[in-house]
Amino acid sequence: MPSPGLPRSDIADPALGDQGRRRIEFAERAMPVLGMLRTRYAGARPFEGVRIAACMHVTAETAAFARALTAGGAELHLAASNPLSTQDDVAAALVDEGIAVHARHGVDRAGYLAHLEAVLDAAPTLVVDDGCDLIGVLHTSRRGLLPGVRAGCEETTTGVLRLRQMAADGALGLPMVAVNDTGMQRLVANRHGTGQSTLDAVMRSTGTLLAGATVVVAGYGWCGSGIAARARGLGAHVIVTEVDPERGLDAVLEGHRVLPMAQAAVLGDVFITVTGNRDVLTAAHFASMKDGAVLVNAGHFDVEVDVAGLEAGAVEVRRRVRPHVDEYVRDDGRRLLLVAEGRLANLAAAEGHPAAVMDMSFAVQALTLEWLAGSDLAPGVHDVPAEIDAEVARTKLAAMGVGLDTLTGAQLRYLSSWQP
Ligand SMILES: NC(=O)c1ccc[n+]([C@@H]2O[C@H](COP(=O)([O-])OP(=O)(O)OC[C@H]3O[C@@H](n4cnc5c(N)ncnc54)[C@H](O)[C@@H]3O)[C@@H](O)[C@H]2O)c1
Repeated sequence: MPSPGLPRSDIADPALGDQGRRRIEFAERAMPVLGMLRTRYAGARPFEGVRIAACMHVTAETAAFARALTAGGAELHLAASNPLSTQDDVAAALVDEGIAVHARHGVDRAGYLAHLEAVLDAAPTLVVDDGCDLIGVLHTSRRGLLPGVRAGCEETTTGVLRLRQMAADGALGLPMVAVNDTGMQRLVANRHGTGQSTLDAVMRSTGTLLAGATVVVAGYGWCGSGIAARARGLGAHVIVTEVDPERGLDAVLEGHRVLPMAQAAVLGDVFITVTGNRDVLTAAHFASMKDGAVLVNAGHFDVEVDVAGLEAGAVEVRRRVRPHVDEYVRDDGRRLLLVAEGRLANLAAAEGHPAAVMDMSFAVQALTLEWLAGSDLAPGVHDVPAEIDAEVARTKLAAMGVGLDTLTGAQLRYLSSWQP
């Protein structure tokens, strides 16, 4: 039970707070931009009187973001966007600091939804979402709260896609900012963060030697292109599958082999889905895969690998042959290895994006919330102001000690002229 006076929370083990605090402080060392914001917020208190309900991965990096917001005066209520990514020690440390946390590692679907309801009980004035489930609940069972919510942010590609669909259907009742659609998010978080952390998950969970292996990456978007580049860097042969001709061409010109999944299925040692789409690896593909093939999903929802089809095609399922790995044995003896039950592997079987990457994502998110706290936008999906993205990139480069050139007056005039 939390100490008297702290807000209501639901976490696994309050005794883990010290361990969580050490983990958060270690992550904060790699997050200088957010650290600078936290210092400024502690003086300026831009979130005084603001109640934020957030659905996010409850990790050390998110905790650094939470600390910056509360330093600025926010009252924060945090639920987990994925039960498998929740770090229970971090949740405990945040509760110790007076943040309401509703997150337990491995909680079932009913528990997950109950946690979303619990953060909405706070009657938030701003919302932060990662995958659009919180917004979904707000627009269904908790519609009565909508008039009190000024605006919100959405972190990931799948969430933004769903928000745009809601807006097209006339169903979106508040202004939402697509944090995912910034340069910092796409270039840095999706490409470099997902690229590194997904391969980290493959290596940690299965110990696969990637050098010489054939890695099939389904979806050559921001995330997939990063994963493919990192896999090649580790010596893998990369095959890409795509449905979009421009992305497919891009992959070919990057030097990757591009094939339909039906052909790639026979060749791959490791399969990584990262499309944001469903049924990317299905029973027909499992039927032709090699013994020992590793199946990994890095897309937001656990719909990319048809786990029910995998189970239906197995004569035996050996759970946890290694941490996070289940083995599906087929009638001819072939074994297919599923990582993290087909959920976001880089968060479930590794630790998500490196803190140095989340520094920029969360700095954009914090500056966007600061902007939204005083905004009066119309319902719909909005972009992050370009200056916020540029400010974060500039601050990060400065923190890294990297200098850029500056446009001369003549160059500025040249770039803004049109006369022949
Ligand atoms: N694991 C993480 O940490 C992490 C981080 C960011 C985003 N995501 C998620 O990863 C997914 C992809 O994000 P993104 O930013 O790369 O999106 P994106 O739109 O840039 O790329 C997705 C690509 O998948 C392709 N695609 C769609 N259906 C396909 C199919 N059936 N077969 C092959 N290719 C297909 C699309 O044409 C597109 O090129 C989303 O669900 C997003 O929310 C995960």
